[in-house]
Amino acid sequence: MAASRRSRDGLGPTGRPLPHFGRPHPRQAGGPAEVIALCNQKGGVGKTTTTINVGAALAEYGRRVLLLDFDPQGALGAGVGIHPHTLEHTIYDVMIGGEVSAQDVIRPTSVPGMDLLPANIDLSGAELLLVSEVGREQALTRALRPIRDAYDVILIDCQPSLGLLTVNALTAADWVMIPVECEYFSLRGVALLQDTIGKIQDRTNPDLRLLGVLPTMVDRTVHAREVLGRVVEAFGEQVFHTVVTRTVKFPETTVAGVPITTYAPDSAAAAAYRQLAREVLARIEPGSVAVTAPDHDAPGDAQHGAAGDGGAGEDPPTEQLALG
Ligand SMILES: Nc1ncnc2c1ncn2[C@@H]1O[C@H](COP(=O)(O)OP(=O)(O)OP(=O)(O)O)[C@@H](O)[C@H]1O
Ligand SMILES: [Mg+2]
Repeated sequence: MAASRRSRDGLGPTGRPLPHFGRPHPRQAGGPAEVIALCNQKGGVGKTTTTINVGAALAEYGRRVLLLDFDPQGALGAGVGIHPHTLEHTIYDVMIGGEVSAQDVIRPTSVPGMDLLPANIDLSGAELLLVSEVGREQALTRALRPIRDAYDVILIDCQPSLGLLTVNALTAADWVMIPVECEYFSLRGVALLQDTIGKIQDRTNPDLRLLGVLPTMVDRTVHAREVLGRVVEAFGEQVFHTVVTRTVKFPETTVAGVPITTYAPDSAAAAAYRQLAREVLARIEPGSVAVTAPDHDAPGDAQHGAAGDGGAGEDPPTEQLALG
């Protein structure tokens, strides 16, 4: 099998040498949360699934995590068991009107250390109301300012559009993560998204950086492998080493209203999101994760097509790799 031959060669699922991401140290620096927008205007690529599951894995590693639902569909809230129609206040009330603060709206989830700032259909009216406002691109930046010190990581689940709400998310963010479904047309829209990111960097947020491109829905078909190869060709080192394989477990977790790390903690899918969380931390908190070069005896080498949990990460680092 190609996948097992790859793993014997020390190559990961993206065809590049797979480093080992060690267990994260506690967060060193205090200060404001790192804000990550999960963005792709294509629908159904795994933005919400990734927000929930990478958030839960980051919380397992001791990070204080806030999930911000920035999609009027409210799928993020539903995915952690908080249903949009039960909410009195949402991010909409924090951004529009100004009488409700983010602290008033935030709710704990079932995952210790992970909170939710929810949305519901009201948010679909926000774009129209914001259009005539001064500083319309910064409404979310203003809403998040009072709570940034209370978290280590804030993950923004964007809606599938490049409208004003997404512009607000990218303006408030330090980083953008792009989940890309490994399907034929998936790369087409990414050029447009990159264009939008470039405009945001020019006009409203010069500090915005690409955190990485995450291949999702990867399966064992030749087609998915080909698309994955093209993603790596197009984005090089910006592609995460971790990929998320296609599994029916994710739709099941949505019904259960809990992350995969709770629903099936020992599954390969949970391991993938834990590895992704370590890889994210290696990029946003340099020094908090030991990144070791591929080694034929390293636990990461046991992985096949999907990302596995690289073990507890006790092995001493041998070489610090440059990422990003
Ligand atoms: N790795 C996966 N394997 C199989 N199904 C998945 C996977 N990731 C997500 N899904 C399922 O695919 C659907 C779309 O995923 P998700 O809602 O995360 O995408 P999205 O990008 O947030 O979509 P939207 O653009 O509509 O907000 C959901 O039903 C989800 O359960
Ligand atoms: Mg979504």
